[in-house]
Amino acid sequence: LLLTLTMIIVAYLIGSISSAILVCKLLGLPDPRTTGSQNPGATNVLRMSNAFTAATVLFLDILKGTIPVWGAFFLHVDSLYLGFIGVAACLGHIYPIFFNFKGGKAVATALGTLLPIGFTLGGLLILTWIVVAKISKYSSLAAIVTVSIAPLYVYFLKPLYVYPTLMLSALIIFRHRDNIKRLLNGTEDKITRKIKS
Ligand code: G3P
Repeated sequence: LLLTLTMIIVAYLIGSISSAILVCKLLGLPDPRTTGSQNPGATNVLRMSNAFTAATVLFLDILKGTIPVWGAFFLHVDSLYLGFIGVAACLGHIYPIFFNFKGGKAVATALGTLLPIGFTLGGLLILTWIVVAKISKYSSLAAIVTVSIAPLYVYFLKPLYVYPTLMLSALIIFRHRDNIKRLLNGTEDKITRKIKS
């Protein structure tokens, strides 16, 4: 139990390291929390910068989810708790202790926590996101649709993790409430919108 609790705290701390804020700072770009959609995530970094920088942020945010879950798995943490370690990493990303608890929407980090379940799930999630993003050009809509279907995928592939996945989906949809308002009134930014800095 002590190991599980420690891993939950470690996951939260790893999740709290905001890749978008740090990468932007490193490259001398504006703070993603004050620019564009004001979200410290790969999509907003893409609007402010280029595909390589956005891909770096995406990759690091995915790792923040994968590392604690894999780590806990190798430390033989009871599989029942692995899902909650994933949730803790996403809570860190959303409410980072190092950045005044103002973080992102945890789409990439949630994907990272689910990847260890297997390639089929990872592939299905990525494919769903890409299809919706390609058709709609909205990153937020792609994320909302993907996390809405994710519990169903997990139910068929790894039912043990349905509850943590439902928690993640609810959290991520809640974090997209401003995006949902903007999608409904037609003011949401497309992925392709460029912001001059
Ligand atoms: O990953 C976050 C994405 O779903 C929405 O980002 O910047 O359009 O609010 P943004």
